[in-house]
Amino acid sequence: MEKIIDENKQGELLELKAKEGNQRKLFIESYGCQMNFSDSEIVASILSKEGFNTTQNLEDADLVLVNTCSIRDKAEQTVRKRLEKYNAVKRINPKMKIGVLGCMAERLKSKFLEEEKMVDLVVGPDAYKDLPNLLAEVDEGRDAINVILSKEETYGDIAPVRLHSNGVTAFVSITRGCDNMCTFCVVPFTRGRERSREPQSIIEEVNDLWSKGFKEVTLLGQNVDSYLWYGGGLKKDFKNASDLQKATATNFSNLLEMCAKAQPKMRFRFSTSNPQDMTLDVIETMAKYKNICNYIHLPVQSGSNRILKEMNRLHTREEYFELIDNIKRLIPDCAISQDMIAGFPTETEEDHKDTLSLMEYVKYDFGFMFAYSERPGTMAARKMEDDIPSDIKKRRLNEIIQLQQEHSLYRTQQHIGKVEEILIEKQSKRSDQHWAGRNSQNTMVVFPKENYNVGDFVKVKITDCTSATLLGNAVELSENN
Ligand code: SAH
Ligand code: F3S
Repeated sequence: MEKIIDENKQGELLELKAKEGNQRKLFIESYGCQMNFSDSEIVASILSKEGFNTTQNLEDADLVLVNTCSIRDKAEQTVRKRLEKYNAVKRINPKMKIGVLGCMAERLKSKFLEEEKMVDLVVGPDAYKDLPNLLAEVDEGRDAINVILSKEETYGDIAPVRLHSNGVTAFVSITRGCDNMCTFCVVPFTRGRERSREPQSIIEEVNDLWSKGFKEVTLLGQNVDSYLWYGGGLKKDFKNASDLQKATATNFSNLLEMCAKAQPKMRFRFSTSNPQDMTLDVIETMAKYKNICNYIHLPVQSGSNRILKEMNRLHTREEYFELIDNIKRLIPDCAISQDMIAGFPTETEEDHKDTLSLMEYVKYDFGFMFAYSERPGTMAARKMEDDIPSDIKKRRLNEIIQLQQEHSLYRTQQHIGKVEEILIEKQSKRSDQHWAGRNSQNTMVVFPKENYNVGDFVKVKITDCTSATLLGNAVELSENN
């Protein structure tokens, strides 16, 4: 699971080890992309200092927070249903306070307080440090709201609490916001302008994770390849930086190299890459360091040049192929995954066929595929009619999903017979006799436990597969342990 909406994780509860002396109980639930899950860890860390311990029992909570997603209408509907549930509990326990965090808070702002009468608190993604003040207002019986987007906030100075995790893999956010303005996307409106986090604080977090036993870090951002640190400030203001700032700036390739060198035994992944911002030096750095995983999530959204243009994706189909060719030339066994949108306004059968033929060319290892959902305020919503009937959207989406399944199976089959290094993350969901972990390409591998442990790097001989999972047997511990 990367900076992608993982259906299995939706609504996951965050539970942390209790801090002694803390009296109040926080129930915090997260929806949407990995950045939200990561942000909830920051929120829990801030509130731990305010006397809150997490609870898994909604009925016990003094404060209920829901970290929300606006990416598609369905995501917002899911959150509204949860709010109804919280409100039912609040009728029994009127002292309970309810707060909305994240993208829906940012998109709807004070409308939330008007529409959802039982919401006490609305906090946008850049305002979590203001939570102690906002809670003080709520405690005095007033509604509280802060949805100000920031030019600087990266939460670089807050150590997220991660006790909820598997203890092996962690996410570290490196950029916030997005400046790309894809016409369908609400993210630039809900998460603001793009800014990068100071590299030193990233390396410190990585080192700290290593010292706590973590073995794999995924660097997170809406558009990681656009990472640029030149002493602080927005990406779009880089052109005004001094010559010295420009000469000493850290780009994404530099940052990856710094991470790979700081912890040579730790695995590094990153997500998400935007084709127009991914440069050759990033692929070269990946090829150079064994501990940077051979996997790139490279959303394309459509295979039609006309639709790509309407989406304001600033590359063509041909340029995308060139990038794919370069990746495969420098890293032949690199896995690539996609995000795809079916039924963007004006999409014809011809455009849709272009998407299918692009998929045939790349043969993605995985994919995340969606029917277009119009988001209020975006360029597409303002300028284009949502004119593809939903049955056609669904049919096209199904064709895309079918084709992806064929390609996923083709890709997993290529692993059969190979011996690959797997990092054990957890017990298999289907069997308590098996471990589950991922190979470098991010495919889940399941194998008998024998005497291996969570957190071990193990060499596994792959013997069988489905379209999503590899099966095998451990050969030996890898030299990377
Ligand atoms: N750059 C971000 C993209 C976040 S949105 C990242 O880090 O992944 C994740 C995916 O949701 C997008 O790539 C796109 O395929 C899909 N998506 C975004 N807006 C959408 C919309 N309005 N309708 C349908 N799918 C959408
Ligand atoms: Fe959205 Fe495009 Fe940025 S999909 S998050 S505007 S790269």
